[in-house]
Amino acid sequence: MRILSIETSCDDTATAIIEWDGENATVLADTVSSQIALHTKWGGVVPALASREHLKNIVPVIEETFTNAHIKKEDIDLIAVTEGPGLMPALLIGVSAAKTLALVWNKPLIGIQHIEGHIYANFLRSQISNQTLKSKIFNLQSENIFPLIALVVSGGHTQLVLMQKHFDYTILGETQDDASGEAFDKVARLLGLPYPGGPEISKRADQYRIKNEASSMETLQKKFPRPMLNDDNFNFSFSGLKTAVLYSLKKESEETIKDETFIASQCYAFQEAVVDVLVAKTKKAITLYSPKTFVIAGGVSANVRLREQLKQAIDSINLEVEPPSNKISFLTPEFAYSLDNAAMIGVAAAFRYEQMSAKQRKGLLHTSLSLDPDANLPLQNLSC
Ligand code: KG4
Ligand code: ZN
Repeated sequence: MRILSIETSCDDTATAIIEWDGENATVLADTVSSQIALHTKWGGVVPALASREHLKNIVPVIEETFTNAHIKKEDIDLIAVTEGPGLMPALLIGVSAAKTLALVWNKPLIGIQHIEGHIYANFLRSQISNQTLKSKIFNLQSENIFPLIALVVSGGHTQLVLMQKHFDYTILGETQDDASGEAFDKVARLLGLPYPGGPEISKRADQYRIKNEASSMETLQKKFPRPMLNDDNFNFSFSGLKTAVLYSLKKESEETIKDETFIASQCYAFQEAVVDVLVAKTKKAITLYSPKTFVIAGGVSANVRLREQLKQAIDSINLEVEPPSNKISFLTPEFAYSLDNAAMIGVAAAFRYEQMSAKQRKGLLHTSLSLDPDANLPLQNLSC
């Protein structure tokens, strides 16, 4: 079957077409139209502007995806769309487009939760195929991957999620205030860096770390607090960390806070604090739940330092694990699928469809009349 997927939850207009054979998925085409240049001027995403841009871009982006996939609309068997969470004016454009196409083409329609898409993005793998270099394939041996723990780190979410099987989610802990990506974006703003702040901070932090000796950075490494690090739960808090950066900057001269080396040093100190907390809580959850698989999900999963430190933590846990078949496998999404994209929505839809009863699949033909976007949609368990 072929799935057309649409994602407009924030500032990317994204569509993809996926071919699914019940086990493997191939991404036939994947288009993302970013609005970063527009929102950078305002220091963050402006929902009304995002909505207007999605409206302008959605039809050309869908058309481009069909052209690149070399298929016709008749070849589509299922339409998938991000239902939430996200910015309501942005979600409305994708959901309206998907509902209209499903109604006019008389196709089944499935709403997908955005974070679920990020989690399932971990199973997409690039492969060189003799047909096209663009193909992305994944193959999942479902019996081997559960229990699974996902560290969700995006612009709107920071959660540790336990899955015992597909579409069975238990939130072990989550942020009590700002999300980790939001903290990167807010601290970048304090440091005079453009939106989105994550890539700007991590680029400077990583360069600073490479240039300097570890011993000369010890004080800096510990400069900012590690909120909730020692609390006996899996929750996070990042707003105090942002305030600590704000107060420390207030003590510096105008000249210092504009200095590139100083900015890079603060990026380094801040990134170390965020990564430390994320890694420590993850280790705690892994030790308690002994999962077979650990994945990271959401835009902050593109952070190289976070990936490195998590890998180191899991490698050291694995040293103690016996027998070797019980070692934890650590999956990361390919960089192309770390940030918002529609291929991840198509993959989650394929898996959901696979698990549905015949009655549930039939019901998808009526979704075009009932689906409403939900700006706060939580992860949804699949009931059969
Ligand atoms: O998942 P995503 O693309 O959108 C949401 O669902 O929110 O995540 C966007 C977030 C932004 O806050 C952005 O600053 C952050 O991901 N981000 C990063 C990096 N790349 C993107 N944060 C830290 N390091 C990065 N390399
Ligand atoms: Zn996202």
